[in-house]
Order: sequence, then structure tokens, then C-alpha cells
Amino acid sequence: MKQNDIGLIGLAVMGQNLVLNMANHGFSVAVYNRTAEKTRQFLETKAPSQAIAGTETIEAFVSALSRPRRMILMVKSGQPVDDFIDQLIPHLEKGDVLVDAGNSHFPDTERRIEALKGRGIQFLGMGVSGGEEGALKGPSIMPGGPREGYTAIEPIVTTIAAQVDGEPCCTYIGPRGAGHYVKMVHNGMEYGIMQMICEVYDLLRFGLGYPSDRISEIFQSWDAGPLGGYLMEISWKILARQDDDTGQPLVEQILDTAQQKGTGKWTSQSALDLGIPIPSINAAVVARMISAAKDERVRAAGALRGPSRALPDDDGTWVDKLRDALHGSIITSYAQGMALIQAASAEYAYGLQLDEVARIWRGGCIVRSVMLEPIREAYRGDPALPNLMLNDHFTRQLNGLESHWREVVGLAARHGIPALVLGASLGYYDMYRRERLPANLLQAQRDFFGAHTYRRIDRDGVFHTQWEG
Ligand code: 2AM
Repeated sequence: MKQNDIGLIGLAVMGQNLVLNMANHGFSVAVYNRTAEKTRQFLETKAPSQAIAGTETIEAFVSALSRPRRMILMVKSGQPVDDFIDQLIPHLEKGDVLVDAGNSHFPDTERRIEALKGRGIQFLGMGVSGGEEGALKGPSIMPGGPREGYTAIEPIVTTIAAQVDGEPCCTYIGPRGAGHYVKMVHNGMEYGIMQMICEVYDLLRFGLGYPSDRISEIFQSWDAGPLGGYLMEISWKILARQDDDTGQPLVEQILDTAQQKGTGKWTSQSALDLGIPIPSINAAVVARMISAAKDERVRAAGALRGPSRALPDDDGTWVDKLRDALHGSIITSYAQGMALIQAASAEYAYGLQLDEVARIWRGGCIVRSVMLEPIREAYRGDPALPNLMLNDHFTRQLNGLESHWREVVGLAARHGIPALVLGASLGYYDMYRRERLPANLLQAQRDFFGAHTYRRIDRDGVFHTQWEG
């Protein structure tokens, strides 16, 4: 049998498109899927003339690969990954490289790397972002794990990745679960930015009463400026789409409930573990949870009171104010994600280079935007920058945005239009820039009921007060 350059297991759309991407770049690929019918269909319909070898058993798959074998798993995260590892192990040899390109939780990746190391198998956890189109045309790729394993796949992954300014949106991220960790936080930021755009849409649609096509035009104009990015782009494209059946904007026919099962939740959990504040991302996870409770919301809509949602007539300034509120919020989402990555790098000794992370997010991935280049420059100039908001470029921007941003959050609150993430982002900004917070009272409260003691601003030492009696 012909010895192929690489193999891929898992022919859902992302897997199929990664295979086509590799084949389009001249790599020969062997493929396998749990259900063989999918393999056959894929070869017949999507890849009839490509250098792709379909296999119908794990043995055939493994024998179709040149050595050391390079294999990518693109299957549902969780148990299926472990199941495939178990199936593959008896057929693998020392030096073979197995790459999990799904959205696995980083502790699982760390465990798998450790378990396979003893058998001489290089296991990598590789974040891939870019959705279906990215997988086909060039995703952003975040590989982590043993460096030797990365070296074996480097020529392939750097070729199939998105390219920006002649550089691939792929680099070795770090040891162990570093790749999946960074991908997880990428997705957390994605949750934040998506929900921010949704809240601004809500204000335009139901506060100002703008029709979808007008909002689409507004978003399109923002996409051409400093807010330019993939999520902005897909949002204006979505809002422009008509439903074939009803002739109405398709977005308005879509049920308003979302799920939050994987990476967003994990980002919040990890941030809590590391003690890093990421309120925008947390709020975005919460926003999805509330959206999922549709029946309760329908009941509450008839019971709980609020003001009229109609905003005062647009005096011609609100669109710019909303843009600025969104801009400030998006900066804080990136700031929170980067701060989390920085903390994880220290805690888990990942040795992450934040400028490189920003660099490989400039193309291919879901959070790509024109803001990533200045983010990259910020961390290139100061790798230990404690927060993106303290970088001169972003400080200047935020200072120019904050007054519109708070007008929008105030307006949303006054009119009962939920802006959980825009508000959480502004709260983050305002707390972060506050030299003195009310934690003095908090410390006194703790000392009152639990004798937790406090420190004073005017002298050293630890103090306790008998607050009563
Ligand atoms: P399938 O085509 O046989 O369903 C994305 O869902 C990919 O993960 C698909 O290739 C799918 O295979 C595979 N997958 C999902 N659940 C799985 C499981 N429990 N065991 C093995 N593969 C699974």
C-alpha cells in the first residue's frame, strides 16, 4: 500500500476540510472514520481526484502511513479521543506522532501526553480555529506538547495554516497542554466578543427599532474600521440574509437559545482556579445560560416589570456611541484573555510568548481582527505587560472610548435592555483603574464576623478590632 504523508481520523466537516487543505497543498493523506459510510461518501463526493486514501479499519489506516507515522485525530472531545487512542496503541511504534486537533480540555491532553510518553509516542494537543472555512483555506493552529513531535508535523501544519504577511498562523505554543490551553482561552474571548456584538445588535434592533438590514450596514461600516474582524464580518453578513420561506431576515426566525458546554465554561473555570478576573467572558457564559432558560424567561416576561425598551429617538450620535462601547468592550475581552494566558504560563510553566500567540491569531481564527497586530506589538515591546489596557496604544484608545461606552451601558440599564457583557467589561475597566476600592469595608466585614484581621494604610502590621460590645 502507498505510504501517505499523514493520516486523519474523524471525517466530520472540520476533519474533511483539514484533509482537503492538506491534499490541496500536495500532502498525501490517509483517512479513517468510525462509520465507514462517511469515508466512502467523502471520497466520492468531495475528494474524487485527490491524493486521499480511504481506509476502513484502524490496521489499514496505520499501515497506510509512512514512518514515523503522523496522525491527526479530529473527533468529538472527551471519551471518543481516549477510545481512538486505545484502538491505535497496539498498532503504533516508538517515534510515531499522534495529534489531537479537537477541542479537548487541557488537563485531558496533559494526561494523554503523559500516558503515551511511556510508549515512546509523541502526543500533541493542537488547537485549530477557523471553523469549516478556516480548516479548508487556512486555520490558525496552536500545537502544544513534546517539541520533537511538533518538529515532525511542522512542515505540514505551517503550510496548511492561514498566512499573514508571509508568515504562517501557526507556531509551537509550548509543552504539555499549552496548545489546548491557548485554544480554550481563544474560545473564551470568542464567547465574550460574540455576546458583545449580540448586545449591541439588541440595542439597535429593539432599543432604536432599526431593521436588520440597516444594522447590517452599520456593522459593515464598523467592520471597515478599527472594529474590523471576522466576528464583525459574519454578523453583518448574517443580518443581511433573507429567509427563503418567510422573506423576513433569517436571523429573526432563529430560536434565541444557546448552549455553553465546552471551552467557554472551561475558560471561566480555569480563570477562577488561577484567580484571574475575566468578567466579560464569565458574563458571556452566563448570558448563554440565561438564553437557554427560554420557558422561564417567557414566564418572567409576563411577571417582572421594566421600563419601555424604546430608546429616545436617535439624535444621530447613538450609532457612534454603540460602536465605541463595543470597541472598548472588545479590547477588554482581549485584555482578559491575554492576562489569563499569561497567568497560566507562569502557573503551569508553559513558557508562552504572548506576542506569538497574538501573531498567529491575526489570520485564520475566529477572533482575528485588526486589533491583533497592535496586541502583538504590545507584548513584543513588553512581554511582562501586566494588562493590555496599560499598553500606550490601548490606553489611548480606551481613554477616547470610555465616555460613550458608559453612556451606552447607562442607556441600556435605563431602558431595561440587558447588556451584561458590555456592562461587565465597563465594570472591569472601571475597577481596574480604581486606585482605591471599597475592599476596606469588605476587610472590616470579614474581621467583624470572622476575626480575619486587616492591614492599615498608615502603619505596618496585622490588626483586629472588637467591633461590638
Ligand atoms: P462518526 O462519523 O462515526 O459519527 C465528529 O463527531 C467526529 O467524531 C466524527 O468523525 C464522529 O464519527 C466522531 N465521533 C463522535 N462520537 C464518537 C464516538 N463516541 N466514538 C468514536 N468516534 C466518534
